[in-house]
Amino acid sequence: MSINEEILGRADVDDLEAILAVSNSDRDAVISTVQQNAEAIFTWDYTKGARPALDKLYEKAKVSMWNGETDLPWDTEVDQESIVIANAEQNSGVNGAGALGLADFDVTGTPFEKWTPDQWMRLGIESQNWTLSQFMHGEQGALICTAKIVETVPWIDAKYYASTQVMDEARHVEVFARYLDTKLSGHYPVNAHLKMLLDDIITDSRWDMTYLGMQVMVEGLALAAFGFMHQMSTEPLLKQLLRYVMSDEARHVAFGVLSLQEYYANLSDAEIFERQQFAFEAAVRMRDRFLQQEVWERMDVPVKDAIEAVMRTPTRQLFQIMLFSKIVPNCKKLGLLDRNDAWLRRRFEEIGVIQFEDWEDTGSEYESFALTDADQRSA
Ligand SMILES: [Fe+2]
Ligand SMILES: [Fe+2]
Repeated sequence: MSINEEILGRADVDDLEAILAVSNSDRDAVISTVQQNAEAIFTWDYTKGARPALDKLYEKAKVSMWNGETDLPWDTEVDQESIVIANAEQNSGVNGAGALGLADFDVTGTPFEKWTPDQWMRLGIESQNWTLSQFMHGEQGALICTAKIVETVPWIDAKYYASTQVMDEARHVEVFARYLDTKLSGHYPVNAHLKMLLDDIITDSRWDMTYLGMQVMVEGLALAAFGFMHQMSTEPLLKQLLRYVMSDEARHVAFGVLSLQEYYANLSDAEIFERQQFAFEAAVRMRDRFLQQEVWERMDVPVKDAIEAVMRTPTRQLFQIMLFSKIVPNCKKLGLLDRNDAWLRRRFEEIGVIQFEDWEDTGSEYESFALTDADQRSA
């Protein structure tokens, strides 16, 4: 069996049929149960500040809490159709695909060739509902994973910091859920690729795997995706909401990088190899999740043809690649790229994202994401 089959369940990382065969079969359930196998660890060493970088992050977190209920302009009127039109105008001069931010989409010979303006409008609206729904589910994943870190990490400074992150994530779930319920027009169930990754992270018995899966991979990607959306968004409430969430997320990714840097420095090649494989699996699962297969199903187009058409546009390819702009430098900083004959470097080369390796890592970048007085006044 090839290593891809072992890790991903398919030999070819780009096998679209195999990717689409994974779908959410449990759409109506209200809860989902996952066995978590890690041991809870008490520490009797209460020396605060034994890890100064984590202590600094903890102190920073304590004074950076915002209130989703009162700090955001919830009285802003949100009209989904106007947002779709505004997005299309940003990509002016093209067909309705501008609504998806795809200015360079040539629809000739694709399932979209004969689409009416109404269909494009519906796609724009469904895409908003889907995107925000997946963010909300991912935030709940972060809430659960970080609560797990409070229990399983052996260092007091990390338990302290993680407890502030639990509060942050509660706020994030809360504000995304409220935005969906009061400003948009429908939820989507969790994407199966995202859920598979969240379950893998929670199930793993090794405490550092929670950090690697959540803080480094999922949150690293979220930080890039939120940044992209923050830049593109013309809707002031969402823009402000994302700005607030990002100021927290940058700390969360820093927490992962600063904690694992110390721990990974002392692992054997065999142990590092397991981490490299896990990082690769997480990267591919997240890439798969962004194909938004559930939207194409709901729009009643042939899912595979639709995805192939969308993925041919340079703008979309660039977006898929940019999602990894935080992950790759952070993996490099953790020493994961080049151990074991550069195994992870070669995988990142194969999926076309290695070019970010020398971009700024997130170990200290969180300072530049901090909220300013101007951010808070504009709320
Ligand atoms: Fe979050
Ligand atoms: Fe987070």
